Amino acid sequence: MKIFITGVSSGIGRALAIELISQGHSVWGVARRRPVLKKLHTSMQKHNKNFILSVCDVSSQASVNQVFAQMKKRKFLPDVIVLNAAINQQDVNKSLHLDAFKQNFETNLNGALIWVEAFLPAFRRRQKGTFIAISSMAAYRPGYMSTGYSASKAALSNAFRGLSINFSTKDLKFITIHFGPINTDLWPGPTWPGMSTAQQAAGFIIRSFSKKSGNYYFPFIITRLTWLSAKLPNNVLAYGYKKYKKRFNSVSKS
Ligand SMILES: NC(=O)c1ccc[n+]([C@@H]2O[C@H](COP(=O)([O-])OP(=O)(O)OC[C@H]3O[C@@H](n4cnc5c(N)ncnc54)[C@H](OP(=O)(O)O)[C@@H]3O)[C@@H](O)[C@H]2O)c1
Repeated sequence: MKIFITGVSSGIGRALAIELISQGHSVWGVARRRPVLKKLHTSMQKHNKNFILSVCDVSSQASVNQVFAQMKKRKFLPDVIVLNAAINQQDVNKSLHLDAFKQNFETNLNGALIWVEAFLPAFRRRQKGTFIAISSMAAYRPGYMSTGYSASKAALSNAFRGLSINFSTKDLKFITIHFGPINTDLWPGPTWPGMSTAQQAAGFIIRSFSKKSGNYYFPFIITRLTWLSAKLPNNVLAYGYKKYKKRFNSVSKS
């Protein structure tokens, strides 16, 4: 299979690219940090032929156009596209910082939908292709420190639902995966023994390739608990966040 992944330089996207390449698939990945991509390419020496990496900022139309043109030139039409790149930019700290809020949207929402716009016509002509949006339980419950992250993930999940209603067929699919806490750089809080790893999250994404359009959740128990906790009144959530903030600050200082 040919798979295109955004955000392959670290965390879940990196683990996903490594696993797919090891399974013999062809992978084209993008991210912004050139030196990190170079290192990754070198580390996968045996499979270099099936592994193409491009520097690309998914929040920039020009940067996306450039990579899209390269893919066209090399006739790389993916079977599966994993829209994984994201940032969790803090935008609340005494006030709301709109620039940071917008950055969350430009990467997490526009930086995903920009690839749908690019590839949907070809997928429709071929009547086959799978788009996978990597969303978050933050789509259901606003997060600590960033309002833009959770708002952008809610928008991404809803946009994918809309795309599915408009375009999906048995073989043209829109899958949305909502992750709970995964032990990567993006997770802002404390970690704990047994916390899900990037490799486990990548395994879940690969298993979703054969599923129907729709919403999927990982890890099972914690995403159910988050979904239930999202129904709590705001004052209870605010109390929980205050407690969490104290614990988070003490962990970050240690
Ligand atoms: N970790 C969690 O607890 C958690 C929970 C729920 C959902 N998720 C979701 O899982 C996905 C993967 O996150 P992760 O935890 O693996 O985080 P991560 O390790 O921080 O990885 C994020 C990736 O996105 C790339 N990226 C960021 N901005 C980009 C841009 N403008 N253009 C291109 N690439 C960009 C980063 O690479 P560069 O910096 O090199 O560009 C990096 O490779 C995200 O969609 C995240 O929202 C994670």
